[in-house]
Amino acid sequence: MRGKIIRLYKKADKKGFALGAFNFSTNEILKGIIFAAKKLKAPIIISTSEGERNFFGCEESVAVYNAIRKKYPHVILHADHTKSFKELKKIIDAGYPSVHFDGSKLSFRHNVRETKRAADYAHSKNVFIEGELGGITGGSTTHKERLKDVLTEDILTKPEQAKEFVELTGVDSLAISIGNAHGIWKDKPKLDFERLKDIKKRTGKFLVLHGGSGISAKDFRKSISLGINKININTELRVAYAHSLLKSLNKREDYTPYHYLKDVSAAISKVVEEKIIIFKADKKI
Ligand code: G3H
Ligand code: ZN
Repeated sequence: MRGKIIRLYKKADKKGFALGAFNFSTNEILKGIIFAAKKLKAPIIISTSEGERNFFGCEESVAVYNAIRKKYPHVILHADHTKSFKELKKIIDAGYPSVHFDGSKLSFRHNVRETKRAADYAHSKNVFIEGELGGITGGSTTHKERLKDVLTEDILTKPEQAKEFVELTGVDSLAISIGNAHGIWKDKPKLDFERLKDIKKRTGKFLVLHGGSGISAKDFRKSISLGINKININTELRVAYAHSLLKSLNKREDYTPYHYLKDVSAAISKVVEEKIIIFKADKKI
């Protein structure tokens, strides 16, 4: 599977589009994501964080993924922000074909050591692995603060360290910190495009932009033109889910889940469709 995933990233890199990676924790979110991908003929990544896959079930995620790709093979199941080797081994052994090892809270030396251990294991099982260098502030929710009051320069990825990191660990792709943060803030993130350019030049790796919610279409397009190959979106889906569910339940006295959850899936699809088009990932299968 790793070879096939690498070929897809190469295609994105060459053709100038980014793969959208969308988080899910329920089946109606998943349905919405897949509906949008099919409609727009886009390759797509479906992701679960540790919390999301604990809720959905790790083995259940793999089983549902295997069922989906029989009908639509352009989907990759990805384990997002995996913070320990134990968890990484568990998800790889359960059948995830793509993983993200997040050692960004560790010192550089420890991050290198743990990520290399994770990469060696992933590669021995033919699994694609994303590493992370530099910190990504916040969680996937709405924040009351302004990002510019919270984000500090020291967590941004240092281009020269990024080169060393990818060489020492052997990761297939790298998540970077260039002013992006998880969640929706009171202000728009200010991305450091010079830093992105430098990281791409020095590493030559597939690069990942986390914290996609709240970033403008213009900044997405510019990031892609400078070497971003995968973009993660979660908070905007969570917000769309909650708003749609509240609205559906309020508007009618109907307690049939497959009626009101249809609206939720449609709200998710709308967000995913918009992003696929911004990422230029439509008509790429
Ligand atoms: O790993 C997941 C993403 O980075 C999601 O970020 O919640 O800001 O869209 P977001
Ligand atoms: Zn993330």
